[in-house]
Amino acid sequence: AVTAVIVVAAGSGERLGYGMPKAQVPLGGETILMHALRGVVASDVARQICVAVPRGDTTLRELIADFTVDLVDGGPEVTVVDGGSSRADSVRAALAALEDGTEFVLVHDAARALTPERVFQRVADALSSGAKAVIPAMPVVDTIKTVAETDGPDASIAPEVVTGTAPREQLRAVQTPQGFELATLRRAHQAAGLFDDKQAAAVTDDAMLVELLGVPVHAVRGASQSLKITTPLDLIIAEGLLEGPLG
Ligand code: CTP
Ligand code: MG
Repeated sequence: AVTAVIVVAAGSGERLGYGMPKAQVPLGGETILMHALRGVVASDVARQICVAVPRGDTTLRELIADFTVDLVDGGPEVTVVDGGSSRADSVRAALAALEDGTEFVLVHDAARALTPERVFQRVADALSSGAKAVIPAMPVVDTIKTVAETDGPDASIAPEVVTGTAPREQLRAVQTPQGFELATLRRAHQAAGLFDDKQAAAVTDDAMLVELLGVPVHAVRGASQSLKITTPLDLIIAEGLLEGPLG
């Protein structure tokens, strides 16, 4: 089946705090984006790779052009699109740029730069086995609770009060690449295009849009190395992974 990989790299990286798009931030002497793209190519699942970059960016576009030149004949075709103001907008922009005949699509965060090849392959394999949606997931180590802002007299004690504890064995921390039948993901994103601002702000991954359609989402095992580089601490961990036995 013809599979495309969308790499969303259009975020601004506010929390990392480098004053440049996160995809451009150095990691092990390269940019975060180059690590991510090399992982996608190495997994050998993609006929096309479509990268969403920040609107107005020239630096990442140049890096991608250089990367593309070095790809061997028969490698994936690389396309670049301008991303949008939310991650979902960036995914939608890339979905519109996929080649005719594409059957499956994997959506991957550039920020998960060190995702192992085997995770891409596990996701692609589940699609080949008939899944319309599949996500890599990891058990959760922390106990996760829901909270609400306190009001009344409790507000002078602490800002929040616990409203419940989710059963940890049922919880998973979800990663990318998330894989979909292309027609299903397009339908899901089309529906999300009509969301109001509050609903749109609550969209944190692609699978949740597919869940809203009632389509089953399958979970395969993710990997610790797939951590999303979000904060300065994550970047230190990623540098350590490159130097250490897992690199
Ligand atoms: N992303 C995107 N377009 C956006 C926002 C995010 O393509 N408008 C991408 C990011 O580039 C990243 C992934 O979605 O690869 C996950 O987003 P996140 O980790 O939040 O990255 P940033 O939005 O760049 O970081 P921050 O929220 O700290 O600004
Ligand atoms: Mg963000």
